[in-house]
Amino acid sequence: MRRDEFSRRLMRENHLRPDDLIYPVFVLDGKKQEETVASMPGVVRQSLDLLMYRAEKCLQLGIPAMAIFPVIEPGLKSLTAAEAVNPMGLVPRIVSELKKRFPELGIITDVALDPYTSHGQDGLIDANGYVMNEETVAVLAQQALMHAQAGADVVAPSDMMDGRIGAIRSALEGRKCIHTRILAYSAKYASSFYGPFRDAVGSAANLGTGNKYTYQMDPANSDEALWEVGLDLEEGADMVMVKPGLPYLDIVRRVKDRFGAPTFVYQVSGEYAMLKAAAQNGWLDEKTCVLEAMLAFKRAGADGILTYYALDVAEWLK
Ligand code: PBG
Repeated sequence: MRRDEFSRRLMRENHLRPDDLIYPVFVLDGKKQEETVASMPGVVRQSLDLLMYRAEKCLQLGIPAMAIFPVIEPGLKSLTAAEAVNPMGLVPRIVSELKKRFPELGIITDVALDPYTSHGQDGLIDANGYVMNEETVAVLAQQALMHAQAGADVVAPSDMMDGRIGAIRSALEGRKCIHTRILAYSAKYASSFYGPFRDAVGSAANLGTGNKYTYQMDPANSDEALWEVGLDLEEGADMVMVKPGLPYLDIVRRVKDRFGAPTFVYQVSGEYAMLKAAAQNGWLDEKTCVLEAMLAFKRAGADGILTYYALDVAEWLK
């Protein structure tokens, strides 16, 4: 059966399509702004006018949705993360402009405080630097509601506080945002593979030697991921996510088997950086390796993949 392409095609169990992709992007304030990200060659931070071309590209290539990550200027970061709930802030402005111009493109926003805190943690901290759950959840619910009111189709809490999905769901329902979907980063591990992302959004320096071990999951655990996914689904999540991707395929499979819910996986910045670096050195063939990784996510049971390679993958699939 493996001898010819026709018979390999006949017995192929999994397929990759542009429909499977979500494209994460980094957004800057201002006009005609574009910056490269040193640890993620090929990835840029862009102002909205330039981002519009990428949004259009997603539609042309059949990519269903974009995930927006803001780069907040240092002067707007604070201990209270007040900018996270500013209705005139960068994210709500970007979302409403994108939805106006491309109503059919799904827009996903990140719900977490790390771009807005002066210390780079995803939540509000007490005097000892400990991230406070309840106080943070209250702000996240406000942040998610503001994104929804700006037109976000999907809000995606990536903070890992307890009870935030329930709080966000009731905040949305309370204001009649009944169509806003929640993509919960349910099994989000305290991973060192997020390093380049923290460079990209400019939170790395703020975080310093800090870590997120008190709220993100221990990479040693797997049953706990099911527990977290179960809680988020019960609290009203529409979709769940496992993150990072390739080192956590076992988790993707367990989550999909146990719950059968729409399950997403995030090929994170560090995974992108590894592939890119090896490709640039001529050590790996970029296209075939990236497509193989994508197919591995599908085989593990993922319904969709967040990847910085989304535009390339969709081109390659043509
Ligand atoms: C922050 C957030 C992170 C990522 C997505 N949202 C980083 C973190 O938790 O420190 C990582 C994405 C990536 O590495 O590509 N809430």
